[in-house]
Amino acid sequence: MSMRAIEPTAGLRLLEPGPTVMLTSMFRSHPNVMTAAWLSPLSFDPPLITVSIHPGRLTHDLVSKSEMFGVNVPTMDQVRAVHYCGTHSGHELDKFEAAGLTPIDPHQIEAPGIAQCVARIELGVVERFSLADHDLFVGQILYAEADTDYFNDRWVAEDELTLVHHLGADKYAGMTRAYTVSLDDEEQDAEE
Ligand SMILES: Cc1cc2nc3c(=O)[nH]c(=O)nc-3n(C[C@H](O)[C@H](O)[C@H](O)COP(=O)(O)O)c2cc1C
Repeated sequence: MSMRAIEPTAGLRLLEPGPTVMLTSMFRSHPNVMTAAWLSPLSFDPPLITVSIHPGRLTHDLVSKSEMFGVNVPTMDQVRAVHYCGTHSGHELDKFEAAGLTPIDPHQIEAPGIAQCVARIELGVVERFSLADHDLFVGQILYAEADTDYFNDRWVAEDELTLVHHLGADKYAGMTRAYTVSLDDEEQDAEE
């Protein structure tokens, strides 16, 4: 192994390959969709997640005003739309139309879901923190649904699971193999 020091900001990229999602938001009949990679689960009870949104995004404005947003999980089949919605602003155009995404009726929030996505989560904003150049929104899950071909209590990845992972710039990757970890030997050792 050949280790080399990297910029502190490059350290953020090391943590980035979680599933990249598309955030949907809506205020006064104005729907929008934005790509987001900086998300994290926060709590089981109540079920909370956090997302970092830069104040310059239209999404920041719409989520701040509506206090709700949707998290839509795409696969590599939608990677062009993912990149498009992460490089164009709803300030300029309707990204649903421009990226070929189909809005579908939500259950608990105003913002539409994205029909092409394999999972959708609807959230209400419960806290918001201004920490540095992004604001941290804490969302409580009000409703969630997932395609059972892809998710059955956990992500199904017998052969491959092509959720979208962002490596940086215009580079993306999908997972192609799942590994099952067994700690049986260790548990047996502990018992002896
Ligand atoms: C893969 C990817 C991930 C991104 N993740 C985030 C993120 O987590 N938070 C954020 O504020 N912007 C993120 N962006 C940038 C926004 O998606 C981008 O600025 C977008 O144009 C904002 O759209 P809006 O102005 O319509 O809200 C990401 C962009 C890409 C390509």
